[in-house]
Amino acid sequence: MSSKVFFDVGISLDGYMAGPNAGPDNPMGDGASAMHGWVFQTATFREILGIPGGEQDTSDDALVKRVFARAGAYVLGRRMFDEGEVSWPENAPFRAPVYVLTHSPREPWVRQGGTTFHFVTDGIESALAQAKAAAGGKDVRISGGVHTIRQYIKAGLLDECTIHVAPVLLGAGLRLLDQLAPNVLKLETVSATSSKLVTHLDYRFVR
Ligand SMILES: NC(=O)c1ccc[n+]([C@@H]2O[C@H](COP(=O)([O-])OP(=O)(O)OC[C@H]3O[C@@H](n4cnc5c(N)ncnc54)[C@H](OP(=O)(O)O)[C@@H]3O)[C@@H](O)[C@H]2O)c1
Repeated sequence: MSSKVFFDVGISLDGYMAGPNAGPDNPMGDGASAMHGWVFQTATFREILGIPGGEQDTSDDALVKRVFARAGAYVLGRRMFDEGEVSWPENAPFRAPVYVLTHSPREPWVRQGGTTFHFVTDGIESALAQAKAAAGGKDVRISGGVHTIRQYIKAGLLDECTIHVAPVLLGAGLRLLDQLAPNVLKLETVSATSSKLVTHLDYRFVR
């Protein structure tokens, strides 16, 4: 089976992927911790961030485990990276090569546990090609943020996506699907599952 390109993000019920006032001092923006509450309850996500505890053997935990296991390389936008640079543990949560889109060249940043951040200044196709080459046959995750994923949607470079919808309202911030022409998004529904805190929507992109 060939390697897939996918994104997997959380949004609020009113469609926001980042709350207002997001930045390195306020990762993901105001209200975002409520939106991502379900993932922070999973043992797998906590282990990846070096936080003890969490729930094992739940459907949410199994889902998070699958998502991290399938990705062999990642693509990030520089603003998502800026938030993570100051808050991720030294053993950064990717444990794989990460390609950061930016207009500011920078030497690769090597972290413990297999994560190396490479800074890519020649566009989304180049970042994806480098990620595919580094992924060792596994899938490539376009991690975010909003403007980064939108570019991959517009360019038709995605195969699959999962959107985790939390029943919270953020009221403002950045919506994933704003500023896209209606006909740019052609999706087939693969599945919809839920737990108390979240509904997981799986889609396949139709080329
Ligand atoms: N809800 C979720 O699951 C989730 C997941 C991931 C991220 N997020 C949130 O999303 C927010 C960040 O999203 P965002 O849309 O503001 O920013 P972003 O997509 O993370 O980063 C945008 C920046 O990336 C660089 N960039 C993007 N495309 C480029 C290109 N084609 N060529 C060169 N550089 C390029 C530019 O940086 P330069 O200015 O350096 O050129 C641009 O300013 C954060 O708050 C983060 O927490 C949420």
